[in-house]
Amino acid sequence: MKVVSVVGARPQFVKAAPVCRALREHHDEVLVHSGQHYDYDMSEVFFEQLGIPRPDYNLAVGSGGHGRQTGEMLGMLEELFSELDPDVVLVYGDTNTTLAGGLAAAKLHIPVAHVEAGLRSYNRSMPEEINRVVVDHVSDLLLCPTRTAVANLQAEGVVDGVELVGDVMLDTARFFAEHVDAGATLAQHGLEAGGYYLATVHRAATSDDAGRLSAVIRAFDRLAEPVLWAVHPRTKKNLAEMGLLDAVEGSDNIRAVPPLAYMDTVALLRSARGLLTDSGGMQKEAYFFGIPCVTLREETEWTETVELGWNRLVGTDEEAIVAAATSLERPPMRPDVYGDGHAAEAIVRALDKRYGDRVAP
Ligand code: UD1
Repeated sequence: MKVVSVVGARPQFVKAAPVCRALREHHDEVLVHSGQHYDYDMSEVFFEQLGIPRPDYNLAVGSGGHGRQTGEMLGMLEELFSELDPDVVLVYGDTNTTLAGGLAAAKLHIPVAHVEAGLRSYNRSMPEEINRVVVDHVSDLLLCPTRTAVANLQAEGVVDGVELVGDVMLDTARFFAEHVDAGATLAQHGLEAGGYYLATVHRAATSDDAGRLSAVIRAFDRLAEPVLWAVHPRTKKNLAEMGLLDAVEGSDNIRAVPPLAYMDTVALLRSARGLLTDSGGMQKEAYFFGIPCVTLREETEWTETVELGWNRLVGTDEEAIVAAATSLERPPMRPDVYGDGHAAEAIVRALDKRYGDRVAP
């Protein structure tokens, strides 16, 4: 079986790492990097730390408006897929790279397998929600992380090719967690275990809006424990353009640092009092490690974390953020709703089952 996998943005590197490893045991994989994320600390460092093979192709698409960024990838991927003629194209998550990979393959009648299929926020103002819905509806194999995702697809009439495989981010978390030296990372940042919050902010809805971003900054500033804020490049650019950098740098309580590498993220997350984030994947990573989360959004795709009491949705209201962050608790139950940490193997089995008979003897 010849698989072309398309990645390009930070969360996709974390998801692809275990799948590449499992896939390459028995199959040919061609890895394509769209270049959507290109800074060393948004891309290369993840390949190094997670042992992801070097991409066979890098399209170097870079930043831009959604249309231009997606359109450029679409054209380049169409050419590449035509040349490579794969049995299946594997895409991950909900970014513009996912959309371009899925659409380009579907238009060439190449089956699309979507890792993290079926997630919904039911908020169409999020670019990621549009990407998810479109990619799911052009996919041939829908690899779902949760029962909720399977049910979401059923509700849209998508049943053929739907497989519950578990969450690949749990595979990565379990595989690397034991190699993490939390003590060294905490010392490097001058933090004590349990005595700080970890924060990330990068969603368009939060980071492109000066009012919301200011409210988040004021809330972080008011918390009783320091907030280590790993600032996404998009947010950094916006903070500078909105004149908000002084509020961040002038705060005694906020420690703004560049984007963290995977091992540092795990180290800092596992020892934090809580996570403050608008990230999708990190809400789950907090759950994996038993760290309570405050989500700076009104809705989430990872509804299990909220239902089980580990995650609170507060939006970007200053008072609500402060109230939630100061009253964090660890609920007694943390069931395995994200699978058993072997989603990558389940994905390879699902690919084998659906496309294995296409392999020449
Ligand atoms: C993208 C994904 C989002 C994912 C996130 C993880 C889409 C629509 N969004 O958002 O789902 O959760 O990645 O990080 O695909 N930039 C740099 N260097 C980089 C990458 C980005 O400076 O290496 C800056 C640029 O200013 C760019 C901005 O970040 O304009 C936005 O980058 P983009 O890839 O379009 O979206 P993200 O906000 O990163």
